[in-house]
Amino acid sequence: MAARKAKLIVDDKTIEFDVLSGTLGPDVIDISSLHSHGYFTYDSGFNSTAACESKITFIDGDKGVLLYRGYPIEQLASHSNFLEVCYLLLNGELPDKPSYEQFSKDITHHTMVHEQIRHFFNGFRRDAHPMAIMVGVVGALSAFYHDTLDIKNPEHRAISALRLIAKMPTIAAMCYKYSIGQPFMQPMNKLSYAENFLHMMFGTPCEEMTFDPVLAKALDRIFILHADHEQNASTSTVRLAGSTGANPFACISAGIGALWGPAHGGANEAVLNMLHEIGDVSQIHKFIERAKDPKDTFRLMGFGHRVYKNYDPRAKVMRETCHEVLEAVGAHNDPLFKLAMELERIALQDEYFVEKKLYPNVDFYSGITLSAIGIPTNMFTVIFALARTVGWVAQWNEMISNPYRLGRPRQLYTGYKERNYVKMTER
Ligand code: CMC
Repeated sequence: MAARKAKLIVDDKTIEFDVLSGTLGPDVIDISSLHSHGYFTYDSGFNSTAACESKITFIDGDKGVLLYRGYPIEQLASHSNFLEVCYLLLNGELPDKPSYEQFSKDITHHTMVHEQIRHFFNGFRRDAHPMAIMVGVVGALSAFYHDTLDIKNPEHRAISALRLIAKMPTIAAMCYKYSIGQPFMQPMNKLSYAENFLHMMFGTPCEEMTFDPVLAKALDRIFILHADHEQNASTSTVRLAGSTGANPFACISAGIGALWGPAHGGANEAVLNMLHEIGDVSQIHKFIERAKDPKDTFRLMGFGHRVYKNYDPRAKVMRETCHEVLEAVGAHNDPLFKLAMELERIALQDEYFVEKKLYPNVDFYSGITLSAIGIPTNMFTVIFALARTVGWVAQWNEMISNPYRLGRPRQLYTGYKERNYVKMTER
């Protein structure tokens, strides 16, 4: 069958492009040759631009579908665990038992950080935001693992992936322990990935910690739901940084920086801050009105999504987990959580939110859940970064393992035309 073509007519010139089909999702017009005709496309915010080919994650925003390597997120959240999902995202297939056991062992044996990394923490103020510390410490990992920085070597890439996934919980918990002046806890090999994180966050050397299985399970689910999300802002940042040939630790550190903003991963923290700002159920209407006012910059945090225009499938799963956790910790009657549930109810019925298809996203419920687990608000985005690391690494590795080019967007220039320099005395 002849390749399908798209035609673009500019003035009296017709330019033809191939139309490419993926396995799922809309067809894609390959406009990469357009520049040779003297034009660029303009697509602010990348609304209509696919910047890469990928086999990892698929989203159908209208139908509320999210697939990791073809598996629906709901099935993975119900039947799998985070480490199995990590294996799946990295390798493309679910592991058999020996592969899973080997992978878990490999991760477990890379959880400690180099002793010198502890000294980094002393350079930060105790009240530093943990994301600020995490960006710095993860970027600094490249100074410790010179032995695996050859990005063309698949074995080096695989070890860097293991190191990053294994060390993120340790670094995240160290950020917290440093802020409250408690000793860093060493990872414990016998624990699951989520339990180990809880142990390093809330354990002390003074006594052995016990775990509420509901909370450990909820945390594992939060990790699964945040593990990957195709070409979002932070993942695109990782790919762009990676396209220059930068090492994986530097690329992931760039991704952490991009995740930090409130429009992206910072939303879970912003949700809790917003709930505190609203303060009381009686104030909800005032804030809903502010969110609807085009002259007011206030937005309902945890609502809306660039891609999901029907519902966020992660939010559906997270909502369930949120209620399980609230039940387990006896927080159903906590005024803050009651406020959150009332806000959700009112916004879901409000004409503005319904018309613009603004539904609660995953971060609305993950923020409330993390808060009920006892995680401080400023750690929420750190936990998102911890979970998303596997997605970033899988996407980076996919790019480096295939032919790729330096990422270099163009622009629509609207500044001055060429003009001559004027001496200061003549300005
Ligand atoms: N509250 C009030 N109005 C909103 C909201 C909101 N949360 N989100 C979008 N709108 C309005 C917006 O004002 C605009 O109205 P109009 O058409 O009249 O100008 C319209 O809806 C479309 O918004 P947009 O900003 O053009 O849409 P976008 O796709 O660029 O934004 C978003 C997506 C997630 C940045 C935005 O919905 C938002 O700021 N939400 C709050 C932050 C948030 O929860 N982010 C987490 C996303 S999920 C986690 C992740 O995957 O990173």
